[in-house]
Amino acid sequence: MLFTRVATLLAVLGVAAAAPPTGNPTKPYRLKTTVVSGDATKNNLYVQSYHTGAGLNDVALVSEGGSAAFLNGTYQQFDLSGSTFPSGLKLAYNQYYTRWLDTQINAGYGDEGFSFNGSGLISSNPQFQGWLVCDWYHGVPQLFWQYYYADIELPSSCAKVELHRANLA
Ligand SMILES: *[C@@H]1O[C@H](CO)[C@@H](O)[C@H](O)[C@H]1NC(C)=O
Ligand SMILES: *[C@@H]1O[C@H](CO)[C@@H](O)[C@H](O)[C@H]1NC(C)=O
Repeated sequence: MLFTRVATLLAVLGVAAAAPPTGNPTKPYRLKTTVVSGDATKNNLYVQSYHTGAGLNDVALVSEGGSAAFLNGTYQQFDLSGSTFPSGLKLAYNQYYTRWLDTQINAGYGDEGFSFNGSGLISSNPQFQGWLVCDWYHGVPQLFWQYYYADIELPSSCAKVELHRANLA
C-alpha cells in the first residue's frame, strides 16, 4: 500500500524509473494547455476526446470539462465515459509532407513513449517537435503535433502549446 503510494507519487513527479514497464496507472488528471507562442485564446484549454467513429476520436480542446487522462507506463490513456475498452493517445501519421499531423484518441493503448517533464507531456518519438492547437474542421480548437519542422509560420488561429497536468473538474 505504502509502496503503491510512493510509486504513484514518483510516477506523478515524472520519475520514470519508478514505474514498472508494464504499466501502473497514475491518478487521473486533465491535460491543460499553456500557450508558448501564437493565439493567446488557446491558453488554459482542456483536452477532450471528439467522437468520430466506434473507438475513434479526434482530440478537441474545451474551456470547461476535459477528458480524464492517466499515464500507464508510457501510454497516455484516457478514461472515456461509458467506454468498456482502453483508449490511448496516438500521434497519427495519416497525411504526407504536411507541416503538422493529427492526434487521435483511439481504442487501445495508443502510442508508447509518453512522459512528463517541465515542458509538460512529451513523446519520445524522435520526430516529435511539440503540440499545436488550431481552429479546425470540427469547428472547435483541435490538437496537432509538429514533426520535422520546428520553425514554421502558423495560421493565425494556431498556438504552439504545452500540455500540463491539471486536477479533474
Ligand atoms: C496498462 O497497460 C497494460 C499493458 O501495458 C495493460 O495490461 C493494462 O490493462 C493497462 N491498464 C489500464 C488501466 O488500462
Ligand atoms: C522536456 O523534454 C523535451 C524533449 O526532450 C525537451 O525539448 C525540453 O527542453 C524538456 N523540458 C524541460 C523543461 O526539461
